[in-house]
Amino acid sequence: MPQRKPVVTVTRTLPDVVETRMMELFEARLNASDVPMTSDEIIAAVEGANVLVPTVTDKIDSGLIDRLPDSVKLIANFGVGVNHIDLEAANARKIAVTNTPGVLTDDTADMTVCLLLAASRRLAEGDRLVRSGKWEGWSPTFMIGHRISGKRLGVIGMGRIGQAVARRVKGFGMTVHYHNRRRLHEDVETKLEATYWENLDQMLAHMDFVSINCPHTKETHHLLNEERLNLLKPHAFVINTARGEIIEEGALARLLAENKIAGAGLDVYEREPEIEPALLGLDNVVLAPHLGSATHEGRVAMGEKVIVNIRSFVDQHNPRDRVYQI
Ligand code: DGY
Repeated sequence: MPQRKPVVTVTRTLPDVVETRMMELFEARLNASDVPMTSDEIIAAVEGANVLVPTVTDKIDSGLIDRLPDSVKLIANFGVGVNHIDLEAANARKIAVTNTPGVLTDDTADMTVCLLLAASRRLAEGDRLVRSGKWEGWSPTFMIGHRISGKRLGVIGMGRIGQAVARRVKGFGMTVHYHNRRRLHEDVETKLEATYWENLDQMLAHMDFVSINCPHTKETHHLLNEERLNLLKPHAFVINTARGEIIEEGALARLLAENKIAGAGLDVYEREPEIEPALLGLDNVVLAPHLGSATHEGRVAMGEKVIVNIRSFVDQHNPRDRVYQI
């Protein structure tokens, strides 16, 4: 790394305080327009740069990584999910990758609970009705939803975010079940009063609500495929604040349309910002535009993590949030 300020290319507009601090510490190349860059534009913008700061909206695939100039030694992702970065290709070019874990855990868990409540209590549908001017007033049988207290939530992926969801829903009187690559330590399981299911299929068949909180990897791609979605009870709800690619979106839309699943709350999609057209006409799905980490506090904290990761890398320390290929 050079003695002068490191040259840092940022692909999207970041919070004001983050960009200002980056300008103080680095020779920062910012994207004031916030328009997502094409691969060619990224390559042009990293000419002579030492660090690339992408987000989930950039496809940092092997083709792009192969074209990065030798000066780029670090990809410091603004975000925790790194499924848009080809880690193998980065590794092959000896380019380090970092992310921003921990600082968006609570925000994403809050969004999960938001969607769980909104879907089960038909909040978005009610909002649309009120705005349409067609609401005719209260009635004992009108717009009946489902109580969440006393119901079972099956969490797929019991990492930081899954555990934060578990802590929250306990407060709503739900019982927590989970499926994870590794079983939690006994103490954590006891504290969360969580029941472990080694077999995902069996868990799905017994749940009232399912929340996806695992990363998107080769192993979790279409983890909830048509076959698995068919295992859910007809009164079950599916919540996804992780990555769209974990659910077979077309199959989910079909099952929701046929009322084979009661409802869904989605914050993420297979081909963002495109949405499976069949989902758009359904009343039993709440659709949010990838808002999991979208709080002022969270986004600033993510930016601070990016800065710390860059600083420690430039100072020749191993950044704490370095991501290794599994
Ligand atoms: C994340 O951090 O992975 C969020 O999905 C937004 O990038």
